[in-house]
Amino acid sequence: MKLQNKITLITGSTSGIGEATAKLFAKEGATVIVNGKNNSKGGLNVVNEITSAGGSAIFIQADVADQKNVDGMFEKIIKQYGTIDILINNAGVARSKTFLETTYQDWLNEFNDNFFGTVLCSQRATGIMLAKKSGVILNTSSIRGNLHTGREGIMPYSAAKAAVSNFTTTLAKELAPSIRVNAVAPGFTYTPYYDTLTEETKKGFIEKTYLKRFIQPNEIAEAFLYLATAEAITGEILVVDGGFTLKNG
Ligand SMILES: NC(=O)c1ccc[n+]([C@@H]2O[C@H](COP(=O)([O-])OP(=O)(O)OC[C@H]3O[C@@H](n4cnc5c(N)ncnc54)[C@H](OP(=O)(O)O)[C@@H]3O)[C@@H](O)[C@H]2O)c1
Repeated sequence: MKLQNKITLITGSTSGIGEATAKLFAKEGATVIVNGKNNSKGGLNVVNEITSAGGSAIFIQADVADQKNVDGMFEKIIKQYGTIDILINNAGVARSKTFLETTYQDWLNEFNDNFFGTVLCSQRATGIMLAKKSGVILNTSSIRGNLHTGREGIMPYSAAKAAVSNFTTTLAKELAPSIRVNAVAPGFTYTPYYDTLTEETKKGFIEKTYLKRFIQPNEIAEAFLYLATAEAITGEILVVDGGFTLKNG
């Protein structure tokens, strides 16, 4: 097993990519802290599935964009496990509006959930990891955070993910050599949300992708596993998009 006893916090793991990553990391021996803001039922289901399969996991409900919630979550982790080895900042959400429709609050909401949560959790984890001179921080960016592939209609999300990518590379410089910091930038990854879209919209996404298919959540989880164990890599944004960026860059 590649992650035996590694204490791993995965934010936004009550469903989708985070859920798949929590299950894969647990299968590889990690003790996983599952987190989400609203979906405690989903979080507890993920924990049940992991523990039923012989793995180790707990659920902590917390809003990663709220400093007090984040402090409380880290206090629980330290009380129960004494440390944290891997942090995956995966929590995020994209809300659709045209630029003119967006309010200042919409921009704040997108940056809170997608960017400031990443900053707050990383800061808490950094204190613990620097003290022991080891640790890994992984972030979920997006193809929408790349320079030329942001999307109209989800502009605040695109900008927030661009901030996540820049934060990743800059933090990697500041925390080296003790802590490695990397990100995965997923393309169209088929989570339950995609079931709500029309066949035409989904066909359009596939058309924009060279491999002519959706990415599966477990394929993003595999990318996180690789980066968690790749000792030579820091400051990398690993794009997993079936060639979307090649076609649209
Ligand atoms: N699916 C894609 O095509 C795709 C592509 C590129 C990037 N991404 C990114 O991948 C990540 C996971 O998304 P997903 O597609 O797997 O969607 P998802 O199934 O909706 O998962 C989003 C997760 O984020 C959590 N979350 C959102 N805001 C939070 C907050 N403030 N505090 C704590 N947890 C919060 C949600 O928790 P609750 O539901 O419990 O509140 C949920 O567990 C996101 O960062 C997303 O932007 C996805």
